[in-house]
Amino acid sequence: MDNKVKVNGLTFVPYLTRDKILEQVKRVASEIRSDLEGSSEPVFICVLNGAFIFAADLIREIGINDCKIAFVRYASYEGTSSTGHVRQLTGLTEDVEGRDVVIIEDIVDTGLTAVKMIDDLKKAQPKSVRFATLLHKPESSRTGFKPDYVAFAIPPKFIIGYGLDLDGKVRNLHDIYVIEED
Ligand code: IMP
Repeated sequence: MDNKVKVNGLTFVPYLTRDKILEQVKRVASEIRSDLEGSSEPVFICVLNGAFIFAADLIREIGINDCKIAFVRYASYEGTSSTGHVRQLTGLTEDVEGRDVVIIEDIVDTGLTAVKMIDDLKKAQPKSVRFATLLHKPESSRTGFKPDYVAFAIPPKFIIGYGLDLDGKVRNLHDIYVIEED
C-alpha cells in the first residue's frame, strides 16, 4: 500500500487496504445473492460516479448472470463536504417495473442522496428496492436512513480512493485513504 497521498493541498493516509475491501465485498455479495434467490432478472443500479469500482467488483462477485445493470448519476458534494442539495444528473434508462432492484452506492453520509434516489426510483414501481453501500458514516446521518448492506461503517471523516474522489480526482487508487488529522 502506498504511504501518503496528496491532492488539492490535502494529505490522506492509508485506511483500508484493497484486500480488506475485497473481503467485505465478498461478504456483502453473498448476502445479496442469498436475498435475491429466486428473483427473476434483478436490476443492479450503480450510482455514478463514485460507485463504479465497487459496483464492478460487487456485481461480478454476486454472480447472478440473469441480471440487468443500469446507471444513475447524482451530485451533492463540493470539495470535502455535502451542499445538502441533491441533484439528479442522469436518470434511469432501464425499465424496473415489477423487478427486484439493488442500488449500489459508494458512501452514505447525510443519507440525503439515498433518500432522494429511492423516492425517484419508487415512481418506476419496482417490486422491491434494496440499498448496498461500500461505506456508511452513521454519525453524519441527517435522515435516519439505514442501508440494507454495508461493507464498512466508518467515522465521519473524508475518504478517497477505490472510486471515491476529491474534486473528481484520485478515484483510481486501489486502496482507501482517510484525510490526515493535525
Ligand atoms: P450524502 O447525500 O450526504 O449521503 O452523500 C452521498 C455522496 O456524497 C456520495 O455518493 C459521495 O459522492 C459523496 N461523499 C460523501 N462522503 C464522502 C467522502 O468521504 N469522500 C468522497 N465522497 C463523499
